[in-house]
This record gives sequence, structure tokens and C-alpha cells, in this order.
Amino acid sequence: MKVICTKTYEEMSYEAAKLLAAQIVLRPNCVIGLATGSTPIGTYDQLVKWYEEGRLDFSAVRSVNLDEYCGLDGESDQSYRWFMDHHLFDRVNINKANTNVPNGKAADPEAEGERYDALIQSLGGVDIQVLGIGYDGHIGFNEPGPAFVKPTHMVDLDPSTIEANSRFFASADDVPRQAITMGMGGIMSARKVLLIANGAGKKEILMKALYGPITPEVPASLLQLHPDLTVISAVDE
Ligand code: GLP
Repeated sequence: MKVICTKTYEEMSYEAAKLLAAQIVLRPNCVIGLATGSTPIGTYDQLVKWYEEGRLDFSAVRSVNLDEYCGLDGESDQSYRWFMDHHLFDRVNINKANTNVPNGKAADPEAEGERYDALIQSLGGVDIQVLGIGYDGHIGFNEPGPAFVKPTHMVDLDPSTIEANSRFFASADDVPRQAITMGMGGIMSARKVLLIANGAGKKEILMKALYGPITPEVPASLLQLHPDLTVISAVDE
């Protein structure tokens, strides 16, 4: 595990963007695993800046996103598809057909999970997976529970996650109660993992995840076993 501590959100974003940019330059048709939430926004802004300066080309890049709320389609501005279009895809020359987000409107979530994992396999796996971390230690939407769940699957969101994510909705009542998320198997299979965390409020859970016991009660703790994990954090006050 490599840990980079930065002083500011901007510095964290810059360092994270550098790793993603290096991957795109080294392998123009790489598969990047992407995350949503407020943490990666600055990273995506930096990538857009380099694209606008002519330094990055997304034309051959493929992407897979971690998760999507159940019941929302890409037209909804609270969906993760909308988030990705808005913060990254519509601002660079990526081919939208090469961008993938789980289908939150799938009638059969189990079949959707199988489709998504098969898709990731058919792309040759993920070269670099970006992750944020939830206050309860979730990654993607893998919530604390009795066991690590490997495949892409549907989850019931933890009340604390519903509360934390309600800031993006009119009220907590509007937050979907379920989501489809890449499982711990998909995340751990990525060749590189890049975990980013921002804000003093994330420090405690980040320390638990990186240095505490490996337990499904803190899903991110499994990352301790990943052979190529980089953590970039701006969590010190
Ligand atoms: C959501 C996403 C996670 C993300 C988390 C933290 O629950 N599913 O992928 O890491 O939020 O979000 P933030 O970066 O806004 O704290």
C-alpha cells in the first residue's frame, strides 16, 4: 500500500488525476473504473483541464462505474449516470458507447449484476479503479455486513448512507433505498486501486480501513490485501 497525504483537496485531486492520466497515456484504450460522490469531482475537473489543453486523449478509453441507484435512469439528475456525464464524459472526447454504469432500472437486478460482471470481463478487467469511502467504510455501495459480497449485486442502503447522501436530494425521503454495486470481487480484481478521501470527518474511518482488522463490517478494510493500492488523502485538519 502506498499512502500519499496531501494538505488540500486540490492537491489530492491533482495527485489522483496524475495516476489516471498516466494510465491513459500508457494504455490509450485502458479500462478505468470510476466513482461518484463529492470526493472525485476535483480529480475529474483536473482531467478535463488536461484534455482541454490537448494533453489527454480519451477517444479510446473505456470506463466502468461502480454503482447506480435503483429506480433512477440516466435522465434523472440524481443518477450516477447523470453525474458522470455532467462531471466528466460530456466534457472530454470519450466515446459514450464505451462508458458503462449499472442499469438502475433493470427489472431483474440479479441478471443485471451478472451482465455487468460479464461486461467487465469482456473488457479485459479494470486497469485502475477509483474509489471514495463512505463514513461507514463502504466502497461503491458495499455496505457493512456479515460477509464480503463478491459479484455485482443489489444492496439495501445503510440508514447512515441514506442520511449522508441526502444532501444531493430534496430530502432524505427522496434517496433511493437500494442500489446496484460492483461487488468486492470486482473491486479487488482491478489491477490498480486508487482510494481517495477528503476532509477531517473521513480520517477515523480511513484509519480503521487501512490499519484496523480486515472485516466485512468495514468493507474498505479488504483493500489492505490488494497488491497495488494507492491511497491519496487530505484528511488532516
Ligand atoms: C456514495 C458512493 C460512494 C462514495 C461515497 C462517498 O455512497 N456510492 O462510491 O465513495 O458516496 O461520497 P463522498 O465522496 O461524497 O463523501
